[in-house]
Amino acid sequence: MAIALDQRLHLSQSIGMKILITGGAGFIGSAVVRHFSRGCGFGVINLDKLTYAGNLSSVEPVSNLPNYIFEHHDICDEAAVDRIFRAHAPDAVIHLAAESHVDRSIDGPAPFLETNVKGTFTLLECARSYWCGLPDSARDKFRFLHVSTDEVYGALGAEGQFTENSQYRPNSPYAASKAAADHFARAWYHTYGLPVIVTNCSNNYGPFQFPEKMIPTMILAGLEGRQLPVYGDGKNIRDWLHVEDHAAALYCILTKGVPGEVYNIGGEAERQNIEVVESICEVLDSLIPNGSSASYRDLIHFVSDRPGHDYRYSVSCDKLKNELGWTPSRSFEEGLIQTISWYLENRDWWRSIQKRYDGRRQGLG
Ligand code: NAD
Ligand code: DAU
Repeated sequence: MAIALDQRLHLSQSIGMKILITGGAGFIGSAVVRHFSRGCGFGVINLDKLTYAGNLSSVEPVSNLPNYIFEHHDICDEAAVDRIFRAHAPDAVIHLAAESHVDRSIDGPAPFLETNVKGTFTLLECARSYWCGLPDSARDKFRFLHVSTDEVYGALGAEGQFTENSQYRPNSPYAASKAAADHFARAWYHTYGLPVIVTNCSNNYGPFQFPEKMIPTMILAGLEGRQLPVYGDGKNIRDWLHVEDHAAALYCILTKGVPGEVYNIGGEAERQNIEVVESICEVLDSLIPNGSSASYRDLIHFVSDRPGHDYRYSVSCDKLKNELGWTPSRSFEEGLIQTISWYLENRDWWRSIQKRYDGRRQGLG
């Protein structure tokens, strides 16, 4: 039975902290919503525009909880964001709403500027106005957690790792828009004292990821007997983190992190793309043999490279581990089996997306 809005607010107030989560219908945002509302019992206000990437079925497991509220708005809409702060009086913000796909940013960068830069600016300004009006004790405890990416640091060669002190060298329109947003977040801490923390995370994978990203692209293509499109020579390297470990890291940083600080988050699981695709084939071969003696590897197909394709990302998360005590909880191999099993068991989730997304190659400019 539906619970009235004022009753939900009352219940969530009695449960404890209330968090405004932007982008909570997306891949990582929905994991964060599930983690904070179900796992930690926090009050959660999910603010999401429901772009092509937003999907309320990803938060369906918690959407009837009394401590969960959905607000369907654009973070660029200042009046709406302002009203949401005043109506729900959050104790913290976790800002994930963004245009997130590098290939789309190559084909059409304008929405990246709009949401990632202007949207972040709007959210920071509304947060500042709300925060300035809080009593002293609430002002001290308030946090604005800005969720960003390791791509702001650019590309690495064969050696070295990104640290919190690495220079910003964004290469794609997506990375440039996230870098700009990070700078705004930093400036709002230094100029206005808003208690901002910035996180820069490596590649996430796991359940509920939109099938334009590499891992679900390969899983679904394999399941449907289509070619597995590996960009370039497949030797580019990414560092993979399970999305639920990212959500746990954000909880750790929100509750223990220091305002004004930056924390890098990584999975300590660097793999060449071709190694990841071969691992997916191996898991598919064991979970759902394709009927003949052929392996899913036979579907691997090298295609033209992404323009400006960053060669390697590798994140040192020593600061997060040493200062706040977080570590990833599972290996990439365990996480990959869990993820592939989830896509096998949740065909309705991705088939409904396929009705509006045809999986055509993006990012050739
Ligand atoms: P996603 O594309 O799956 O989800 C983005 C969500 O934001 C969607 O629900 C969408 O509807 C919402 N949204 C987009 N524009 C909006 C707007 N103007 N107003 C309100 N809502 C809007 O993205 P994701 O992969 O879950 O990434 C979430 C965040 O984490 C992003 O900020 C991204 O830059 C960052 N990040 C992602 C990864 C990764 O590997 N996916 C890694 C590091 C950091
Ligand atoms: O590093 C963090 C970033 O990781 C996040 O900030 C981004 O939001 C997220 O999308 C991701 O960016 P990538 O570009 O690394 O992810 P993607 O899944 O698009 O690609 C991963 C790698 O796989 C990359 O080297 C390109 C390659 N690739 C991708 C696709 C979609 C392929 O070889 N084939 C594909 O079909």
